[in-house]
Amino acid sequence: MSATEQISIRVEPTSTSRLSQVDFNNLKFGHIMSDHMLVAEYNNGKWEDVSIVPYGELSISPSMSALHYGQSIFEGIKAYKFDDGTVSIFRPENNWERFNKSAARLQMPEVPEDIFLGGMKQLLDIDRDWVPSKEGTSLYIRPFMFATESALGVHPSISYKFIVITCPVGAYYSKPISLKVETHYTRAAEGGVGFSKNAGNYALSLYPTQLANDEGYDQIMWTDALEHKYIEEAGTANLIFRIGDTIITPHGDTILHGVTRRTIMQLAEEWGYKAEQRKVSVKELIDGIEAGQVAEAFAAGTAATITHIDRIGFEGKDYTLPPVEGREFSNKVLDYLNQLRYGKIEDPFGWNFIV
Ligand code: COI
Repeated sequence: MSATEQISIRVEPTSTSRLSQVDFNNLKFGHIMSDHMLVAEYNNGKWEDVSIVPYGELSISPSMSALHYGQSIFEGIKAYKFDDGTVSIFRPENNWERFNKSAARLQMPEVPEDIFLGGMKQLLDIDRDWVPSKEGTSLYIRPFMFATESALGVHPSISYKFIVITCPVGAYYSKPISLKVETHYTRAAEGGVGFSKNAGNYALSLYPTQLANDEGYDQIMWTDALEHKYIEEAGTANLIFRIGDTIITPHGDTILHGVTRRTIMQLAEEWGYKAEQRKVSVKELIDGIEAGQVAEAFAAGTAATITHIDRIGFEGKDYTLPPVEGREFSNKVLDYLNQLRYGKIEDPFGWNFIV
């Protein structure tokens, strides 16, 4: 489909909204889905049958290839409500670009702008009452695509479903988290799929994360596959550190190219910090903590937003980070992004995509 061609979206509104059943003062992450979802089908080399329908179950074939060979990718995006009721999605164009990079790596079709962004906008317009407004809450948007061909041979599927579901959410992490440096298991190797947001990257994290949980840590800190010497990301978000006056984030194609991370690094530069995207060794971090030079460490992601890290475990020893209250940069970013996303201040970068 050309960029100018507009796809038409069929709308089938629900006759029974579930909105009144939601306790907006007690939102858990990812449990209650909004009334509608967007569904598009890819067949014979093109997208068709784009519709917004009541949220509900899907019928799938047991031989559907996504279940066997894992052609399945997704995104995480958030929408916020301003005091005047305006609904705004945060930087969804970046997620659309990343989604299509994930698709290309997994030999899946690209989703055009008018389905990904146009469809999302229309979906949120219909479910705008589901967007919560209290600070710390948002409507989490989950676009995903999976292979639907019924066939057991290993080959790219000839058919796909693209779906967008949404859910009102509160915090993913409600307090600072502890991380264990993972030096045995591996998330991604050079040339692999580490940069992409595919389902398998999360499935493979579950076992080592459970082991870390058993040792009393909330999450793992992945290290590189070759030497387990360089820090990559946490199981559910990117990582950012402030060492001295430099804001540093591990970078490379084995790491998810996070939109929140990009946003924070842009702000760091804008605010005159030295901002570096580069390799960070575990030694640099641990030595820095011991020398009192690591002022801040946090996880950055759509779901995690900014989650402070209070403790890092490495080779059987725990390293404690400075108190959260004194963390000048991450607290300033959190406050600034809250104000921007809820429409309380100007949006100088054009990051708010108004529905
Ligand atoms: C997100 O941050 O949106 C993600 O997809 C991460 C997931 C662990 C919830």
